[in-house]
Amino acid sequence: MTSAVARAHTNIALVKYWGKRDSELMLPQTDSLSLTLNEFYADTKVEFSAQLTADELIIDGQPVSGKGLKKVQKVLSIVRQMSQINQFARVESINHVPMAAGLASSASAFAALAMAASSAAGLKLARRDLSRLARRGSGSATRSIYGGLVEWHRGVDDLTSYAEPIMEKVDFPLEMMAILLNTEQKKVSSTLGMQHVVETSPYYPAWCEVVQADMQKIKLAIEKRDINEIGHIAQTNALRMHALNLAADPGFTYFNAATLQAMHAIDNLRASGTNCYYTMDAGPNVKVIYDRADRSKIQAALTPLFGADNLVVSQPGPGTVLLDQK
Ligand code: DP6
Repeated sequence: MTSAVARAHTNIALVKYWGKRDSELMLPQTDSLSLTLNEFYADTKVEFSAQLTADELIIDGQPVSGKGLKKVQKVLSIVRQMSQINQFARVESINHVPMAAGLASSASAFAALAMAASSAAGLKLARRDLSRLARRGSGSATRSIYGGLVEWHRGVDDLTSYAEPIMEKVDFPLEMMAILLNTEQKKVSSTLGMQHVVETSPYYPAWCEVVQADMQKIKLAIEKRDINEIGHIAQTNALRMHALNLAADPGFTYFNAATLQAMHAIDNLRASGTNCYYTMDAGPNVKVIYDRADRSKIQAALTPLFGADNLVVSQPGPGTVLLDQK
C-alpha cells in the first residue's frame, strides 16, 4: 500500500479534556467523554513516495509549514517507525469544519491522519491502537476514532490511554446545534491554553476531582438516556473548565460578547420551559445540547439573535472510516 484516504468526524466533549501530564506522549490529566458529530468532518489522503524529498502538508488546497506540519510529522514518524517505511509523505486534507474556531478541527484532522497514514503504510491497526496513534497528534482526536458517545481513559501510560465507545449508535434523540459566532482563528491554542492552566490555575486540583465525579454521573445519565441530566452535567463541566482559564495567571477567556449573549439566551429558554444546555470549547462558539423534539422551538428563539445561517444542527456521527486505499 502507498496511499489511503480516511474520513473522520469531529467530536464535542461533554466532560472536557483540559490539561496534559505528558506532552510528548500526549497523556491527559483526566478522563473525558464526547459526542462525535455527523456534520463536521475531515477527508485526508496520505501518500508515501520515494519521489518526495520532504513531508508535505496541504490543507484545503493551501501548503502548510511550521507548527501545523510539525504535529503531522510527529504522527508520520511514529507510523514510519512502526512500518519500517523510509519515505516521505504527502498529506492532503479537506476540512468540513471551520478551522480553529473551537469546533475541534484538530480532532477530525488527526483521527483521519492516523487512519490514512497507517493504512497507506500497510499497517492494519486495531481501533484502540488507531485511537492511541491519533492521540499523539491531538488529544481530542483520540475520541474521534469512534462514533457516538465516547470515553477517553486517561490511562497510566501510552498503552493504556485510549478511547472506547460508550454508545456508538446513539439510540435516543440527543442532538447538538452549533451557534457559529466567530470562525476566525483563535488567539490562544488549546495546547497553550491548557498548559498555562495546569501551570498557573489554583483551581486545577479541584478540576481533576470534578471531572472524576462528572464521568461517573454522565455515564449513569447516558444509561438512563436522560438528556436533561446529560445537558446539565455538560454545561456545569464546561463552565468549570472556563473558570480555570479566568483563574489562571494571567487570566484569559475564549468567550466574547456574543458567547455570553448565547449563554444567556439558552439559560432563558430553559427557564421558560424548553430544556436546552450549552457547552463551549477553546473558542467563542456555543454548542447547544437538547432533545431533537425541541429543535424547532430552539431554532425559533435563536434565529432572530444569531441568524439562521449561523445555526448548524448536527446528529451524532460515525467513527473514522477508510474511503480508499491503493
Ligand atoms: C476544549 O485536543 O485541541 O476541546 O491535545 O493540545 O491538540 P491538543 O488539544 P485539543 O484540546 C481540546 C480541548 C477541548 C476539550 C475536549 O475536546 O475535550
